[in-house]
Amino acid sequence: MKKLKRIGVLTSGGDSQGMNACLKTIVSTAERKGYEVVAFLGGYQGLLDNKAKIITSKEAELYFNIGGSFIKAGRSKDFLDAEKRKKAKTVFNKQKLDALIVLGGDGSIRGACDLEKLGLNVLVIPCSIDNDAYCTERAIGFDTAVNNAVNTIDNVQQTMRTNDRILLVEVMGRECGDIALYSGICSESDIIMIPEKKQKEEKIVREILKQLKAGNKSPTVVIAEHQLNVEKFAQKIETETGNECRSIVVGYIQRGGAPTMQDRLLAIRMGVAAVENVIDGNFGYVISLTQDHITLKSLSEAINAGKQFREELWDTFLELKRFKTVKPHKKV
Ligand code: F6P
Repeated sequence: MKKLKRIGVLTSGGDSQGMNACLKTIVSTAERKGYEVVAFLGGYQGLLDNKAKIITSKEAELYFNIGGSFIKAGRSKDFLDAEKRKKAKTVFNKQKLDALIVLGGDGSIRGACDLEKLGLNVLVIPCSIDNDAYCTERAIGFDTAVNNAVNTIDNVQQTMRTNDRILLVEVMGRECGDIALYSGICSESDIIMIPEKKQKEEKIVREILKQLKAGNKSPTVVIAEHQLNVEKFAQKIETETGNECRSIVVGYIQRGGAPTMQDRLLAIRMGVAAVENVIDGNFGYVISLTQDHITLKSLSEAINAGKQFREELWDTFLELKRFKTVKPHKKV
């Protein structure tokens, strides 16, 4: 019997919704083309430890529309050590792999670059709720995470408005302000704090006071994580404004749940493209989205890609804010 060719896969870093849809697509496409798929469990650490199992489309299809990764994800300290990393090549050869497909964000792309330097045939599919893989217009998981953030903000705003309370919302994103920017605009929030447009706390307080004076009794501030302590900032706002202020941290809710149509579609398109490129022998690339087309970016191009901040979206937000008229209730 002819021996099947083999593709390795792993999901690395923070998981994102759509990873499972992408895995299902990779496995079913690969099976149709005469490959079997070996999954390394728990990201790069699973590769170093050769913690591997064959996955089939029958198994993968059970998880297609579920968040997380059924082959586990994670960050590996060992993988950052150049000596320990060499083990990846031994495992790759031992498993007789033709290629390895890595699903992950910014850090995972850098990891794949290191594997390429060891001579491994590797491809990356960008998956990140933060949208911080700057070689692609959008990473798998971002759309679902933003939708989750918007839904949460919508819900909390309803009770804040009922009680005339100021609301601070912290969202995820690591060094990237995209979740805050997109969710802030789409929830019609009043103020957005992102690392790309640094603003001092004092400026935000002045802005809130302006909003209150104009009749907006419950302004919402969306804050990308790691900039300040939202609980302490809420106390400061209460002291400075004399109004009640509440803070919430959206947290891991952003990273769970069924992937949206946009994330499923991207996962399917990128999964198919990855397998086709394995068959064509194109390695050392990140599968990217460029002007809504699937393209290839070399790994070195990908890690050197500058931050793709959507300046025009920030301008849209400022424009919306300028024309937002706050009408105080009429006295009767
Ligand atoms: O990178 C994805 C992400 O969810 C970030 O937004 C967040 O800062 C981080 O992962 C949380 O990491 P962990 O799952 O290790 O707590």
